Amino acid sequence: RAAMQGDVLAKERRDLRQSEAQDKAAQEAAKTDLGQEWNDPMVQAGDRRFASDLRQTRGQKSLELPEWKKIASGKGELGKRTNMSIKDQRESLPAFKMRKQFLDAVKEYQLLIVVGDTGSGKTTQLTQYLAEAGYGNQGMIGCTQPRRVAAMSVAARVSDEVGCRIGEEVGYTIRFEDKTSDKTRIKYMTDGIMQREILLDPELSKYSVIMLDEAHERTIATDVLFGLLKKTLKRRPDMKLIVTSATLDAEKFSAYFNECPILTIPGRTYPVEIMYSREPESDYLDAALTTVMQIHLTEPPGDILLFLTGKEEIDTSAEIIFERMKALGPSVPELVVLPIYGALPSEIASKIFEPPPPGGRKVVIATNIAETSITIDGIYFVVDPGFVKQTAYDAKLGMDRLQVTPISQAQAKQRAGRAGRTGPGKCFRLYTESAFQSEMLPTTIPEIQRQNLANTILMLKAMGINDLLGFDFMDPPPTNTMLTALEELYALSALDDEGLLTRLGRRMADFPMEPALAKSLIMSVELGCSDEMLSIVAMISAVQTVFHRPKEKQQVADQKKARFHDPAGDHLTLLNVYNGWKGAGRSDPWCFENFIQPRSMKRGEDVRKQLVQILERHRLKIVSCGRDTMRVRQALCSGFFRNSARKDPQEGYKTLVEGTPVYMHPSSALFGKAAEHVIYHSLVETTREYMHNVTAIEPKWLVEAAPTFFKVAGKDGMGMSKRKKDERIQPLHNRFAGEDDWRLSAQRR
Ligand code: CDP
Ligand code: MG
Repeated sequence: RAAMQGDVLAKERRDLRQSEAQDKAAQEAAKTDLGQEWNDPMVQAGDRRFASDLRQTRGQKSLELPEWKKIASGKGELGKRTNMSIKDQRESLPAFKMRKQFLDAVKEYQLLIVVGDTGSGKTTQLTQYLAEAGYGNQGMIGCTQPRRVAAMSVAARVSDEVGCRIGEEVGYTIRFEDKTSDKTRIKYMTDGIMQREILLDPELSKYSVIMLDEAHERTIATDVLFGLLKKTLKRRPDMKLIVTSATLDAEKFSAYFNECPILTIPGRTYPVEIMYSREPESDYLDAALTTVMQIHLTEPPGDILLFLTGKEEIDTSAEIIFERMKALGPSVPELVVLPIYGALPSEIASKIFEPPPPGGRKVVIATNIAETSITIDGIYFVVDPGFVKQTAYDAKLGMDRLQVTPISQAQAKQRAGRAGRTGPGKCFRLYTESAFQSEMLPTTIPEIQRQNLANTILMLKAMGINDLLGFDFMDPPPTNTMLTALEELYALSALDDEGLLTRLGRRMADFPMEPALAKSLIMSVELGCSDEMLSIVAMISAVQTVFHRPKEKQQVADQKKARFHDPAGDHLTLLNVYNGWKGAGRSDPWCFENFIQPRSMKRGEDVRKQLVQILERHRLKIVSCGRDTMRVRQALCSGFFRNSARKDPQEGYKTLVEGTPVYMHPSSALFGKAAEHVIYHSLVETTREYMHNVTAIEPKWLVEAAPTFFKVAGKDGMGMSKRKKDERIQPLHNRFAGEDDWRLSAQRR
């Protein structure tokens, strides 16, 4: 399976490189947009060593290379910092030298930008300095992170340093998980959480200082917070705002934030030797794994950091490396393989910080989370295939889609820098130097300019911000993106004809989830099935999957899963699992027996409880439909009517909106079944567009759910039978063609 996946991925990657060339024009435009040509100080001109040569010089005898003896004796250097006391560790960080300047600046100015290399101690130290100086006494010190894993792992580290349990003086909050208490003075949270908090309390009265951390990542939530916090500061002269960045955008940040001062933490980095591939790689994954093995077998001590694009790729690679190591036998020094990506449980994630075994080495396989948010000490070797998985709006599908895309030059530089924190390092770039120069954008395009904004706009509207064009964005989103989002919210009935928030829309904004899911949940109350919908929405929001499918037991696992399959599809299958678990007294043995992940079920239950609270706050009733689960499917249509598809006579399905070919995922309860019309929760692209979480529907439900969006074809065609009419639905997504300005002027009023 792994090999097959490898092939498929390889093909995709080749396609990617080709399509890159086509995007040239767009890149040129972006270059001028984003400022100066990029200079990479770490590229050592004249030094012509190539990343790919490491693999080409590999011989049959590589196992007998003497270098690995060096590894065995190289204990001293590795894990050096971990032998230090916590106090020494803290004081050895570059931020410590700036402690006084930092506190003086915070005292003097309301707004401050702090720039420092990744790993200099911004995230873990600055909050503590503030707490030590007393800023935690009148309110909390809040620090935002673009990623959940980072928020959790940093909070864990800081509570260690402070010497408290997590949730006491130091805590964190991520979606559906609050580890804070009355005692909490330093609170780490995702920027999404801060965005929700500012919606509920625009003054942010619980906080004395906000640190917008990792601002260079430019997530939508951080970008929106820029504008919102600027307003809050005016109303709260006592509040402080610190914006931190690991890159060179500081000037731009300062210009945006009323020319506020910039504090720079001097770096302490070692040179990194950069090596490129001689030729473009036909299969970066294979190249990456071979490079990792070669580094392990031929290079002096030091840990390896490999950047891949996502969970599946990382898990597969971890397995392959593990197998290759096993094949080499016990004479080769140990290589500990440690995956890290967003969905990883925190206990496992924290292993990446542990030193490697004596005489051995560790390889951390990470998504771009390890680019800036998480710093792992002891890394001497970075392997960078040059890709990242990121969401971008796909106009054809009318929704955001995760896509593997080339990284920017700034990201490449950041990745390389990870090798030079403990000593001089090496970075193996698995692309050519000319690809770096000519095919990569200088800097990454901010999320706000490439993603769906329905969520964000709903939130801004809920805060009473109707003048979206006048909102103080650092980089405003393209008008078209805003219009698409407005149209989507209008079709969901979250906005009225004038572009103003409806009662339904206001309610939707209170649910921490995508608008379509929030609407399905709210509508399920009217349809008399909110008890069921709660379970489904909780399971979808809480975890990626509840099913456990171990490699050695796939067949048994699939058989067990099939027993939960509902003829109407995956949403009701999830409901069957939830009800089965509840019926079995929420027991772990039941989970093991049925190949269900107990952890996921517990998390789902926890999320469910939180959703119940929100429903209760809105006085929305929890009612059960019993066996009449058709209502559940109707409720799903009220949110997901856009994600509808019809069976294609040839193969697969075609979306109703654009006629794009999509396919049933093999893991779906509807796989191989004859469902004519379906809706899906999301699309996952591997070799094709696969629909995930699919449910069979009646087409007339779509018209009922979104009369402004769909019309029944041939309304005037008298001769058509009712059934025929119901089935020939056409989307009306063009409703506003040529009237675009109409909605914006409605907002300016
Ligand atoms: O935010 P910045 O990148 O400037 O640095 P940081 O995240 O505060 O990291 C400072 C130091 O703490 C680094 O040497 C990290 O390796 C260490 N750290 C850790 O050991 N465990 C964590 N969970 C987070 C950071
Ligand atoms: Mg940081």
